[in-house]
Amino acid sequence: MCGIVGYVGYREAQPILVNCLKRLEYRGYDSCGLALLGEGIEVYKDAVRIEALEKALRPNVSKTGIGHTRWATHGKPSQVNAHPHTDCSGQVAVVHNGVIENFLQLKEQLIEEGHTFRSDTDTEVIPHLIEKYYQDSLEKAVARAIVDLTGSYAFAAIHAGRNELVVARKESPLILGIGDKEHFVASDVPAVLDYTDRVVYLEDGDIGVITADKVTYISNGKEIERAEHRIPWSVAEAQKAGYEHFMIKEIHEQPRVIRETYKGYISAIEPVTNLGIEKDTSITDILIVACGTSYYASLVGKHLIQSLAQIPVRVEIASEFNYSDTVLGKTWFIVITQSGETADSIRALRKAKESGCRTLAITNVVGSSATRIADETLYIKAGPEICVAATKSFIAQLTMFYLIALARASRDVRSRAGMILELRQLPNKVQEMLDREEEIAKYGKYLAKYENVFFVGRGLNFPIALEGALKLKEISYIHAEGYPAGELKHGPFALLTPNTPVIAIVTKDNTYDTLLANIKEIKARESPVIAIAGESDEEIKKYVDFVIKVPDVDPVFSPVINAVALQLLAYYTARERGCSIDTPRNLAKSVTVE
Ligand code: F6R
Repeated sequence: MCGIVGYVGYREAQPILVNCLKRLEYRGYDSCGLALLGEGIEVYKDAVRIEALEKALRPNVSKTGIGHTRWATHGKPSQVNAHPHTDCSGQVAVVHNGVIENFLQLKEQLIEEGHTFRSDTDTEVIPHLIEKYYQDSLEKAVARAIVDLTGSYAFAAIHAGRNELVVARKESPLILGIGDKEHFVASDVPAVLDYTDRVVYLEDGDIGVITADKVTYISNGKEIERAEHRIPWSVAEAQKAGYEHFMIKEIHEQPRVIRETYKGYISAIEPVTNLGIEKDTSITDILIVACGTSYYASLVGKHLIQSLAQIPVRVEIASEFNYSDTVLGKTWFIVITQSGETADSIRALRKAKESGCRTLAITNVVGSSATRIADETLYIKAGPEICVAATKSFIAQLTMFYLIALARASRDVRSRAGMILELRQLPNKVQEMLDREEEIAKYGKYLAKYENVFFVGRGLNFPIALEGALKLKEISYIHAEGYPAGELKHGPFALLTPNTPVIAIVTKDNTYDTLLANIKEIKARESPVIAIAGESDEEIKKYVDFVIKVPDVDPVFSPVINAVALQLLAYYTARERGCSIDTPRNLAKSVTVE
């Protein structure tokens, strides 16, 4: 997803902008560029990768500039479509994240008025509008230009001869880093962490006028204040810490992430939760909305809340919910989003808010858009997740759903106490799982030679089959599909051959016997079957080709252990295939377009 950065201060802007762009690489990008303010404006955007851009740059002493990583939405990845974009005279340069929905009308009108366009992008209308409205103030020109824009944007603009950045935000993330006699602009916090831990989140409709000494915030034409936040993450936390990839580092952080997430919500003395919803009888039904991996976590959440708390739960994919006539009524609306910025999820949250629902955001990112829209927020404590593929945030989301289900569990006190105890033990069990990494790596080598894989599970572990397939396809580019084990015979059986391995998640719960029957049906079609099964399960090896043994846990916690096993499997398969694990092709970490 596009990333924007900006700098104004007392140091040379060029190396700072390049470094900030590198910190945004995890969002995924296909081209990059930057613009530096001098007598005029110098724009560099000939490179695809940031390293190549860095090598191509000439020394430049400018103390003000903007930079961009582009994730193509309008127009293919190319030098002309890369940002920054400029106006006709080259006096204005702009970097933008978001989508200008009315750009075609604006472009036609501007062409009629004599403007010349070079790119296929929606962004290019912004510098032209600023040029059109510019008299003597960049701030005023930006304020006037945004009146014409519909859609979403976070952009930063510079104007030749003016030592300032002017930024504007609507529905796309934008933060400012506050330094001493220097200021930074970025799409996300990791970009500025090398320089400052003081951050301001801009709100929708905000304009910021930024110089080395001062930031002025304007909303609806009036000067306003915006609160500063301290970011608790260190730069080291956002780096690889000796691991080959962020993904495997983040997988290994999971025992700590579970502890961090439940810490504060379960008492160390008594077996009780304190989420604030324990005695809230107004919660009679729940709708959870999310995208991707967060959606799969929600499906597990639905099972947990329904079975432990007996509260009816619906789960919808955000992009579908936004175009549906789902009846909300007095529903407790939960949006779950790691980034807190996913455009589809944010739109769903606004829709729920507008319809009068009580709304809760479950997110990883302090101060993100979701937290500012929702009535309440619960933070998963995963820390910065850099790998595009979600791992530790998924496990933290599952932990949060255990807490919510336990908070409202209608079971007797003794069994709730037992489950809380088991939740406390979960980090150790996940560590045991991680200690089996080498063995899973062997299966990664085996799987790497195939082009199609099915994942099957039942009940609580059906969403884990979906998540296992998603992890494998996104980082190894192997076609993978997750299915309820009982559903394969209703069509997908046509695809089963000796070249289509099936990964079966086998848990000793009420689904066990039927799952064994399903495995027999699959074996009859000659597909190799790898079971993910508890270590005490001696029976399973009679039914399958290989068994990946996982630590025994209460079946209700098996999704966590099985998900970790499948993350490792996906990782080692992708590694064997030499894939770009942390930044898979065509994907972005934070999907801020609908
Ligand atoms: C997959 C993945 C995505 C995200 C999805 C939602 O590994 O990371 O499917 O889960 O884009 O993102 P958030 O949770 O930030 O809303």
